[in-house]
Formats: sequence, structure tokens, C-alpha cells
Amino acid sequence: MTHGKQPDSTEQTPSNPQRRTLLKTLGAATAATAGATLLPGCTQKNTPGAQENLGFKEIPHRLDFTHHIPQGYSTDRVLSWGDPLDAFSEPFNPEKLTAPEQARRFGYNNDFIAYMPLAEDAGPAEGDRHCLSRNSERGLLCVNHEYTQPHLMFAGYSEDSANRGTSDDHIAIEQQACGHSVVEIEKTAHGWQPVAGSPYNRRLSLTTTMEIVGPAAGDRRLQTNEDPSGTRVFGTVGNCAGGKTPWGTVLIAEEGFGGAFQGDPDNIADETEARNHHAFGISPDNRNWGDYDRRFDISVEPNEPNRFGWMVEYDPYDPQSTPRKLTSLGRFEHEGFTLVSKPGQPIVAYGGDDDEHQFVYRFVSRGIYRPGDNHHNRALLTEGTLYAGQFSEGGSGRWLPLVHGQGPLTAANGFRNQADVLVDARRAAKLLGATPMDRPEDVETNPVNDCTYVMLTKNKKRKPDEVNAANPRARNTAGHVLEIVPPGRSGERDHVSDTFRWNTFLLGGNPNAENPAERGAYGQQQPGNISPHGWFANPDNVAFDQRGNMWIATDGCESFGFHDGLWAMATEGELRAAPKHFFGCPEGGEICGPEFTPDGKTLFVSVQHPADADNSTFDHPIHRWPDNNPQLPPRPSVLAIHRDDGGLVGS
Ligand code: FEO
Ligand code: CA
Ligand code: CA
Ligand code: CA
Repeated sequence: MTHGKQPDSTEQTPSNPQRRTLLKTLGAATAATAGATLLPGCTQKNTPGAQENLGFKEIPHRLDFTHHIPQGYSTDRVLSWGDPLDAFSEPFNPEKLTAPEQARRFGYNNDFIAYMPLAEDAGPAEGDRHCLSRNSERGLLCVNHEYTQPHLMFAGYSEDSANRGTSDDHIAIEQQACGHSVVEIEKTAHGWQPVAGSPYNRRLSLTTTMEIVGPAAGDRRLQTNEDPSGTRVFGTVGNCAGGKTPWGTVLIAEEGFGGAFQGDPDNIADETEARNHHAFGISPDNRNWGDYDRRFDISVEPNEPNRFGWMVEYDPYDPQSTPRKLTSLGRFEHEGFTLVSKPGQPIVAYGGDDDEHQFVYRFVSRGIYRPGDNHHNRALLTEGTLYAGQFSEGGSGRWLPLVHGQGPLTAANGFRNQADVLVDARRAAKLLGATPMDRPEDVETNPVNDCTYVMLTKNKKRKPDEVNAANPRARNTAGHVLEIVPPGRSGERDHVSDTFRWNTFLLGGNPNAENPAERGAYGQQQPGNISPHGWFANPDNVAFDQRGNMWIATDGCESFGFHDGLWAMATEGELRAAPKHFFGCPEGGEICGPEFTPDGKTLFVSVQHPADADNSTFDHPIHRWPDNNPQLPPRPSVLAIHRDDGGLVGS
């Protein structure tokens, strides 16, 4: 296995001479976007110039078999599926892979990335010292592995034959290839490299013991034959995005967990449970994991799915620590939860339920955040109130509490207790009147202007009579981004308030599309102010750099004819919401987890499912990125992007 510099395709397109043309007439960009409110900005007090430093040369929309970055940048391949986390050195051979070996190698389909710095003078389990560090040259890369694709991992399958016909040996490997990896990495003269054999290196998989904590822990709906206590569960699955805490822990989301379970919900005697399992897509047509591991068969263990669909918190600095599933944050198809941490105030966390017509959520901790008191802080996410978002006409909004006994959340509606409210959070939020959204993905707060941004990736199922102010397009193919503005001034916003203002930050899509219903709109920018490569669709993950620029990762641009990638834009000032194209994926790939080092000089990205295309298989892939080696299949990989002159990424 080799690491280090990869051949990049770097390129340059002429910058759009009209980029800096400003919109003089309010409203022009909204003409095509019925109901959308594209307001001038989150802050009253703009900071001119602060975000207008995205000086890189934009790359073009492409669709080919490699990745693309701007001229003057390089990428290091940091980790690929199968790379060893131990110090042994056998090259990766997927045809000889076993489950025990996969358990010590980097997993499949890398998604969320957290970079957790390592203090120079501290060792394992000294999390308090590490989380004060801003070391940007040595740290832990904490990476989700969202799901497995046997037809691209193993010989002999088509996508169809793999679905219900994966062999037991291969399912055993899959259950070790999903979950999460912790890998020590360091910046060397040859680029970013993993430290094989580091004592921090760890895999979380479907056999890792985890604790269930919070109001639903121990409830009868979480009890199984294997765990009558309802407090211990094996593993995590569907790990999409996540978040980080200032006390040095990592949050990982369980999103599409329903696909891991097989069986017919209609055969479950308990109507509440049957409805619950239907809502998460459990069906007899799902993967055949239940044939190998009976707990994934709901006819054997009807409560096992209730032990998935949570946020998981764990300590990457202590390789012996037991991850905890946080029932306080509700159970749904979690994209992730990201925190707003202000000293002396409750922790506020924002997250999304990534399914059509599902909701945006906020959690407010009962206790307050005390910087440095990590023993205290580590309990904050276990107790508090979960809320669902209601986005009203005219840009007002409210957070609606999911509290048993309040409003409709009573026994009369099937909620015995708070555990029921949290296990069936979707049903509770709907009864409260939360606004059904266009698949909420990342929800993250800009550290500079203190506003919160919601990525809504798409919703082809929204009918014309189902549009609302915050989801203004029927059959929304391109997605959009909302800006939540809590009360107060920039930097002092009250994220604990139960009311907020909101506006549409951008509507994805081509600003010059012929069909007005599909036309993109980017803040107040005129269509001519968006370069031919600056528009995008299907926002999914988001990150902010230290200057407050927004970096959006997409999932779905291939249906618009070009690769998924990264687009960067200001959130304030004259170029608010005017995107520039920074990174493009190899065909079939989706980009996840943009994550900066604290110094802003490295940007990590996940390329998930490269070469995932019709009829593309292990035996006949459309390409073999990133190795381009006939002995290796395409491999999901994490890249580190940096400037050749060592400067800030994006400046
Ligand atoms: Fe796994 Fe919501 O994307
Ligand atoms: Ca996602
Ligand atoms: Ca993010
Ligand atoms: Ca995605």
C-alpha cells in the first residue's frame, strides 16, 4: 500500500468577469421561485471584505474518472477501504479478506470526518488535554463508514444478486466494514499519512458493545432476548454525518438503519411497532443479513430496530471507552447533530432527519456548558429537551418541544411515556405541527455570524399542494439551503430561544434553467453573477472555514450532468451565496465530510462509493479510482487537500 501524493487533475477556468456584478434590484433573483424569501443576510452588521477572499481559480463542471482540484493545490490520499490500522504490512487483497482482518482495516464508504487534534505532550485517555490543542499536523481522523456495497466489494455479484444473496462470509465482512474508524494521522514531508499501529487506532462496527443512555434506556421497547435490560447493544450502522463536542467527544449518526433489517412489519402483532418499522423501510425485500445474524430479522427480534436510529457519542482519545447511544436526541434517520457551545449556557444541538417530508430538530441541554469541566460536560447531551422546527410564512419560526404529556403527546395518542415520544419522534413531531421538509441533511452553525444553515437535499415526492414557505418547490429535484437567524446580534444570538427568523439562502439548480420551477437562485445574486460552474444541486454536508465561508458538499449532481463536489461561498457581504466550484469527484462518487484542520491549511474530504453506476461491479467497474490498478477495485477514500504554498485553503 502506498500513501502520499496522488496524480491530481488540477485546472483553471477563467474567472467570470461578471462575478462581482452586484444585484442592484432586490427581488430579481426571486422572480422564478414562488414563495422563496431570499433576504440580504443573517447579520445587520456586515463585515465587508471578511468573506470575499475565496481567491482560488474555480474548476469546471466535469464527469470523468478522476477527482479535480484548483490549480495550486495538491491532494494526499490519506486512507482507503482496506488500509491496515495495525502495523502489519500485507497489501490489501479484497479476494482474501476475512471478517477478523476487516475489523482491523479501514472500513467501506467513508462519510463524516472529524479531525481531533493530538496534544504534543499527552497520551491515550488524556482527552482533556487533547481537546484544548489546535495541533494541525497530528491528530485523530474519525471517519464514519455509512454502508456496504457487496457488488463493488466482492467478485461474483450483480447489484441485484447481492441484495438478497450475499454469502455469510461476505455479510460477516460487511458487518466489520461499516461503522466508524479512528486513525492517528500526521503531516509529513510526503503529505498526510496514517500511523499504522498507533494505540489510538480503533474500529467501531456491528459487534462493538455500546451503552444506551437517556430517557428511553431500558424501556421495554428496547429490550431483546440478547439484552433484557434494554441498555446494551451491539454496534452501530448507517453512520452518515455527525458532530464534535468541545469536551473532546465525537457524535456519529445512525441514518439508514432500516435497510439492515429484514422481515414483514405486517406480521408484527403490535400495531405501534408495525407502523414504526414500516416508517423506516423495513421489508422482506431488504438485505439478507437476518439469515446470517438473527437479530436483523424482525420476526425473531421485533425490538432490535428500536436500538438503532440514534446519535452515538464516543471518546476517540480513549480507545477503551464504551460508545453511548443518546436517546435524548430522538430516534429517526439522523444525518448528524452539530453543537453551539457558549460558556454558562445550555448546549444547543441542531440536526436533521434525512427523509422526504421529515423534520429539522433542535436539542437544548438541561445543564449548562462549563468550559474545562469535562466530567460535567460529558453528561450534557443525556438530559434536555428535543424540539422540532416549524417554519411559518413570512420568515418566522418556532421550536416545538417533544415532551410527554404536553399537547398531543399523551396516552390518548399512543405515547405511554417519554421513551415512546423519543422512539417515535417522527410521529410526535408531526402531531405537534412541525414543518415537513425536503430531506434535511447537515444542519450547522456558522461560527462567525452565529446563524444556522439547513441543507435540504431534494424531495421529488413533494406534490404541488404540499409546498410550504420553507419548501417552495413541488418535485424539488435540486434542493435548497435555509438560514435560521436566532434572536440577537451576531455573536450573541440566542440559540435557546424558542422562536427564530428564517430565510431561503439559496435554491439549488441552474440559475439560467429554462423551466422557472427548476431555476436556481443564489441569495440576491443575479443569474449572470453565477459562473457556469458555480451552480450546483443537492446540498448534503456543510462546513465553515475560520472566516465564515460556507463549503457545501453535494450528493446528486450527476443527474444534472456533472460530478458531485464542493462549492465554497460567503454567507455575508456582496458575494453572499455566490458559489465557486472547488472540488469534483470521480464518476459515481459522492463527496462527504468536509473538515478543516484548526489552522485552516488542510481540508479533508471523503469520496464515497466511487464508480457506483449502473452495471458497475467488482468484476467490471467503470473505473478503479484511486489506485487505477487492475488488481484493485475502486476504493472509497479520504483525501487531504492543501495549498502548494502552505496557505489557507480557499484563500
Ligand atoms: Fe447519508 Fe443523509 O446522507
Ligand atoms: Ca449525507
Ligand atoms: Ca458538517
Ligand atoms: Ca449523501
